[in-house]
Amino acid sequence: MSGKGFQEGVETVRGGVFIETYGCQMNLVDSEIVMAMLEERGYQRVDRAEQAEVVLINTCAIREHAESKAISNIGRFGALKKRNPETRIGVLGCLSKHASSEIAKQLPFLDWVMGPDVYRRLPALLLEPPPEVPLIFPKGSPNELYDDILPARREGTNAWVTITRGCNNRCTYCVVPAVRGEERHRPVESILREAREAVEEGFVQITLLGQNVNSYAHEGTDFPDLMEQVAAIPGLKRLRFMTSHPKDCSDKLLDVLAKGLPVCPELHLPVQAGGDSVLKRMGRKYTSDHYRSLAAKAREKVPGLLLSTDIIVGFPGESEADFRETVRLVEEMEYDNAFVYKYSERPNTPAAKLEDDVPDGEKVRRLMELNDIIQASGQRNRLRQVGQVHPVLVEGPSPKKPEEAIGRTPSGHMIVFPGTPEFGSELWVRVKKLSGMTLRGEIVDKPSS
Ligand code: 5AD
Ligand code: SF4
Repeated sequence: MSGKGFQEGVETVRGGVFIETYGCQMNLVDSEIVMAMLEERGYQRVDRAEQAEVVLINTCAIREHAESKAISNIGRFGALKKRNPETRIGVLGCLSKHASSEIAKQLPFLDWVMGPDVYRRLPALLLEPPPEVPLIFPKGSPNELYDDILPARREGTNAWVTITRGCNNRCTYCVVPAVRGEERHRPVESILREAREAVEEGFVQITLLGQNVNSYAHEGTDFPDLMEQVAAIPGLKRLRFMTSHPKDCSDKLLDVLAKGLPVCPELHLPVQAGGDSVLKRMGRKYTSDHYRSLAAKAREKVPGLLLSTDIIVGFPGESEADFRETVRLVEEMEYDNAFVYKYSERPNTPAAKLEDDVPDGEKVRRLMELNDIIQASGQRNRLRQVGQVHPVLVEGPSPKKPEEAIGRTPSGHMIVFPGTPEFGSELWVRVKKLSGMTLRGEIVDKPSS
């Protein structure tokens, strides 16, 4: 028996399914949905690929790097098929059409390559004999919501609950609309049912998920209305959401955010660029001034707001002057946290028609400059926490020191403190200091006012 990278002699578990997930939280939930469909039919999750009869790799296509990393990692599973030809191996997720055919050609040991709306076919496919060549199922039902399936969640304090699938925004650099299709919205009742069941199971935090949660609308209920209804679920301690598009983040939503717990004062508001001509070519449909006033309003209305963002550097045609606009905006925003990405050309996106003309070295330089500014503002914002007392939700013992616990403040800052409180409980913690990027604190009595 051979198997590069896999341990010899590990026994296969009957009906064992191993899922490896890349990319965003939407993909994490999709893996939980797939797992739920399979568990219902008697399969069970295993933690090691060597134990599995079914290996699934849920991939991401948002940037070329993510896609190629997933593809190169898939190759290693060929050893499992060699060792046991009965092993079924499938690639799931957001691969571009082009990448799906490439993968099927390059990795003939695969059984199937399937897009995000096709997973209902999986249980039946598992009962069929293995195909001679990988079968490709790029597109499923354009209305698929997997609404009737309760994701098979693993232990934790947080349950991700998807409220929309797909995206209609068509930002010119983004592959999501092509791979995840048109936006569709889950009915309010089914979101509430899933959230209630998750809370009853012990997930005291819910994070509502969508590519653009602000566009949620179902029979007269908009996103702020939905937030209020979820917030009213008994036993729920924290309610978060992602992601918000600045063009439709409303005052009504900011008012809901300002109401306080269980709604958490946290807003991930991707700006992508600070210069108006780049924003325009990105198809973002707002100006940098609109973003500035929205962020200022959010900070004014919501005390203790944690503001984070996504930025792309080196979009086609981004000049040094355009980039300086981004620097200026990022300096003004004093973000708590931000994810900065180098522009990556994606097949069949409108931006792919533009020349990817910012050299890689320049993209790296811009990325590093922004990261330095963000690191410094994040540090300043954290330092301001010292001396404050927060109701902290306990996530578990610290992996390094079991006599210490890890928790999160309402705005989402991680905090470490001595003690072994119960996981999922809420207690009051005073922030004592900042070491590196980690807040450290001590348990205190609940403040009287
Ligand atoms: N290149 C680089 N970054 C991208 N993102 C989306 N598409 C691309 C791309 N083609 C980033 C955006 C988005 C985040 C999830 O990924 O910043 O907000
Ligand atoms: Fe992509 Fe824009 Fe939709 Fe986000 S909002 S998924 S960046 S198209």
